[in-house]
Amino acid sequence: MAAMIILLFAIAMFPVYAHVSALSLNYYDKTCPLLEPTVTSAVKKAMMNDITVPAALLRMHFHDCFIRGCDASVLLDSKGNNTSEKAGPPNISLHAFYVIDNAKKAVEALCPGVVSCADILTLAARDAVALSGGPTWAVPKGRKDGRVSNASETRQLPAPVFNISQLQQSFSQRGLSLTDLVALSGGHTLGFSHCSSFQNRIHNFNATLDIDPTLKPSFAASLRNVCPAHNKVKNAGANMDSSATTFDNAYYKLLLKGKGLFSSDQALLTNPKTKTLVSKYASSKQAFEKAFVKSMIKMSSITGGQEIRLNCRVVN
Ligand code: HEM
Ligand SMILES: *[C@@H]1O[C@H](CO)[C@@H](O)[C@H](O)[C@H]1NC(C)=O
Ligand SMILES: *[C@@H]1O[C@H](CO)[C@@H](O)[C@H](O)[C@H]1NC(C)=O
Ligand SMILES: *[C@@H]1O[C@H](CO)[C@@H](O)[C@H](O)[C@H]1NC(C)=O
Ligand SMILES: *[C@@H]1O[C@H](CO)[C@@H](O)[C@H](O)[C@H]1NC(C)=O
Ligand SMILES: *[C@@H]1O[C@H](CO)[C@@H](O)[C@H](O)[C@H]1NC(C)=O
Ligand SMILES: *[C@@H]1O[C@H](CO)[C@@H](O)[C@H](O)[C@H]1NC(C)=O
Repeated sequence: MAAMIILLFAIAMFPVYAHVSALSLNYYDKTCPLLEPTVTSAVKKAMMNDITVPAALLRMHFHDCFIRGCDASVLLDSKGNNTSEKAGPPNISLHAFYVIDNAKKAVEALCPGVVSCADILTLAARDAVALSGGPTWAVPKGRKDGRVSNASETRQLPAPVFNISQLQQSFSQRGLSLTDLVALSGGHTLGFSHCSSFQNRIHNFNATLDIDPTLKPSFAASLRNVCPAHNKVKNAGANMDSSATTFDNAYYKLLLKGKGLFSSDQALLTNPKTKTLVSKYASSKQAFEKAFVKSMIKMSSITGGQEIRLNCRVVN
């Protein structure tokens, strides 16, 4: 009889248990009511000294969510022979980790041991968009931090040379649709790219053409000017769009003019559905923002961790 009661109890508890791991808007209302303004002020402070911070935070969050879910695995430092994600190949412009460290320190001072690094990074990415002139939104919270970060797993990230089917596959493996792909690619309204990320389009494009013919010729010429074939300038590259510190829909407008930076950006024009969405977001900033917010919440809800890390760079 007792065993029966325990069994029934366990069955009844299961959905409750599953619910505990779900995210919610009011997750820290009782345990850390000042969480959000604390994170926002750390992001604001960093932005005042370095305008590249918002782009860095947004990309960091995307990389985090695409490997093992949004579990702050991207924040872990390498340890001994174990090289972590931040040391993996497309790490070239991952930076501004100190902003998350500062936010975490301030949050720990207020509510020790309560808030995950994954939630702090998610909030910081939201703030980065909002403080750059983009939309803001309520972030569901309650993520846990993971205990594994492995550099070789960064191979699972989509590459800038991907075509539309490769992009679609990468996103659908994470429960994200073609609409999410187009909306989230709009993150390329912020930031900077190194030459290596679009080199394939401007030198030796294929056996017959040196330059990708879908690039506007004058734009290709300007990219070749900053990125010559045997580029020796270490940090050479181009801004992601014409207003790289402002979150707007210029990315889509430029894409339609042959001024998208990556093959993966251009690829959005090679499928009728994604092409229609690019045109829609190019003609309406409001439609873009609405779609971006929806897709960000979806991407941010891929979870995966187990613990509340005390220091975002090391497992407990
Ligand atoms: C669709 C697949 C994607 C590919 C192939 C891709 C690829 C890249 C590459 C190659 C860079 C330049 C790195 C460098 O050379 O420094 C970059 C930068 C960036 N990406 Fe993406 N990305 C993708 C999706 C996203 C998403 C979903 C977001 C966020 C919503 C995002 C946000 C950014 C930002 C903000 C930068 C600029 C970083 C900085 O200035 O520090 N990307 N991306
Ligand atoms: C490296 O990773 C392995 C396997 O996850 C673990 O057993 C080992 O303790 C790690 N080494 C260090 C120095 O953290
Ligand atoms: C780990 O690194 C040390 C030196 O730091 C090296 O001696 C050892 O062989 C490495 N172990 C493995 C399993 O790669
Ligand atoms: C990292 O991943 C690679 C490839 O999956 C694997 O061979 C390696 O053992 C992993 N490293 C650790 C420390 O778990
Ligand atoms: C970035 O990745 C490259 C190639 O894997 C590696 O040599 C480099 O040390 C990494 N950079 C950082 C800052 O971890
Ligand atoms: C995309 O690239 C993959 C791998 O190279 C290839 O198999 C596939 O046919 C390509 N798809 C399109 C639509 O070009
Ligand atoms: C090079 O690219 C162009 C434009 O996409 C294409 O028409 C041509 O067939 C390609 N050449 C080779 C050899 O693949």
